[in-house]
Amino acid sequence: MKTELTSKFAELGPWIFQFRIDGADYGGAISAVGDNRVEQFFCFAPRIGTILELGSLEGAHSFILAKHPGVERVLAVEGREMNLRKARFVQELLGIRNVDFVQANLEKNDLAAFGKFDAVFCCGLLYHLPAPWKLLEHLSTVAPALFIWTHYAAEAEARDIANGLRGKIHHEGGADEPLSGMSATATWLTLESILRVLSASGYAKTEVIHDDPAHSNGPAASIGARTTV
Ligand SMILES: C[S@@+](CC[C@H](N)C(=O)[O-])C[C@H]1O[C@@H](n2cnc3c(N)ncnc32)[C@H](O)[C@@H]1O
Repeated sequence: MKTELTSKFAELGPWIFQFRIDGADYGGAISAVGDNRVEQFFCFAPRIGTILELGSLEGAHSFILAKHPGVERVLAVEGREMNLRKARFVQELLGIRNVDFVQANLEKNDLAAFGKFDAVFCCGLLYHLPAPWKLLEHLSTVAPALFIWTHYAAEAEARDIANGLRGKIHHEGGADEPLSGMSATATWLTLESILRVLSASGYAKTEVIHDDPAHSNGPAASIGARTTV
């Protein structure tokens, strides 16, 4: 069984995340177990039944979110077919029934089509979008609570981008790079601009849950936003 699974994982690889199945580890080098962004999310939104996850990659966070007490359903949206194939393969092995994976390009998709949720988990996605404000403008109609973890542009490297927002252009890794955006470039907004878009997009309360301006891949922050105070 273990040899069979090892070769099936190798066939679908390369993998980013590691998955524990029947006591053995398969896949990539990074374990999502204990990821403090998931802890921050459930601290921010403790009693939730339904979650919309954006940019779910191989499903590593999706399965952890789905197993959390009280969570009935996770809808995990991902743009890359290959990432979805991996996620569904692991889902089958883990026997997790309360996650649905769907393919959609979040640069273009009408989020209303996914229905309503208690919270949105938007981790590692925003800084891969060419116009991140377009996604943010619609999220408050989908769920009353939004959790974001994202890289952002430091004010010193930012310029005026659009609609009074400031940020910088970032070059993406291309269609075959599993972690990348779907377009050639993305816009990293400044933290202030992200908060400004949220406040103008139906969120009555925004908070920076954690700020890491010295993150090795660029400044990063966890942000919470609610439609009610
Ligand atoms: C850096 S990974 C983050 C994965 C995971 N959420 C995490 O935080 O570790 C970005 C993910 O978002 C997906 N993605 C990027 N741009 C997207 C888009 N426009 N629509 C849908 N998915 C996208 C990528 O394919 C990838 O799976």
